Amino acid sequence: MIRIKDLSFRYRGSSEYALSRINVEIRPGDFLGIIGPSGAGKSTLSYGINGLVPHHFPGDFYGALTINGLDTITAGTEAIARQVGSVFQDIDAQMVASVVEDEILFGLENFGVPREEIAERLENALHAAGIADLKTRTIRSLSGGQKQKVAIAAITALRPGIILLDEPTGELDPQSSWNIFTYLKELNDRYGITIIVIEQKILLLCEFVKRLALMDKGALILEGDVPTVMGYADTLKAAGVNIPRVTELGSKLAARAWYQGKLPYTLAQGEVMMRQVLSRKQPAREGSPHAAL
Ligand SMILES: Nc1ncnc2c1ncn2[C@@H]1O[C@H](COP(=O)(O)OP(=O)(O)OP(=O)(O)O)[C@@H](O)[C@H]1O
Ligand SMILES: [Mg+2]
Repeated sequence: MIRIKDLSFRYRGSSEYALSRINVEIRPGDFLGIIGPSGAGKSTLSYGINGLVPHHFPGDFYGALTINGLDTITAGTEAIARQVGSVFQDIDAQMVASVVEDEILFGLENFGVPREEIAERLENALHAAGIADLKTRTIRSLSGGQKQKVAIAAITALRPGIILLDEPTGELDPQSSWNIFTYLKELNDRYGITIIVIEQKILLLCEFVKRLALMDKGALILEGDVPTVMGYADTLKAAGVNIPRVTELGSKLAARAWYQGKLPYTLAQGEVMMRQVLSRKQPAREGSPHAAL
């Protein structure tokens, strides 16, 4: 369980708070997606969760953040790393080895994983991330997207209780992004690993995560299950989030009182909404739902 209470943080030398009074609990087995515009504080919040704030990035830190009871202020970053595996936004800074398999082995050996388990975990992680063919390649020769997959494989091989990923699909094409989220969902479903993922692609989040959080200007302004958060289409848009077109349409129809249900965020839900809207009997002169399109 991650408990964040009244967390505020200002980087040393900065006049603005990068995090402002954040309150949230992330339960075991949760799959939380964090969205928000550039500069909202998403990465800074992730640094709070893995202890880089304030241990690596000093500054003014107020409030409390605990991970399974471990206070990140008093715990060392290594103790936190055993609970939280992180995939950083800056993927090059993450890599420590020069060959793909060594990158994965490094973590496994460092964490003291028993010898007899190491080979199996290495192969599993490579296969699951779809990079078995890259095993002996040098990291220098990989594309950005391939490096993201290596970083994800290296972290998931450690099977930490919590995995935190900062824009893990930033360099990936749609199919690879989908595959990575499918893999994260499997880790969440099968092993109950808590997943926290910062992601700009809202359609992916809507499809895979259980809960969504919206950050803007250092604050966490919405948090809840996906249908609830997607119901706040105007707040999401005001924060600069590109909401799905079907949600946009639902929001317009709702504004004209043509639709009263929950805002859709998948195509299937959009279809249900449109059936409902088109089957409504309206007086001929009061406009038609097509006007909302
Ligand atoms: N190392 C740092 N030192 C000082 N200020 C920083 C540092 N890292 C981030 N900031 C500032 O903190 C604020 C939040 O930045 P952060 O990187 O957490 O946002 P973000 O939501 O992750 O943005 P993006 O979507 O661009 O990755 C910004 O104003 C940023 O300029
Ligand atoms: Mg960021």
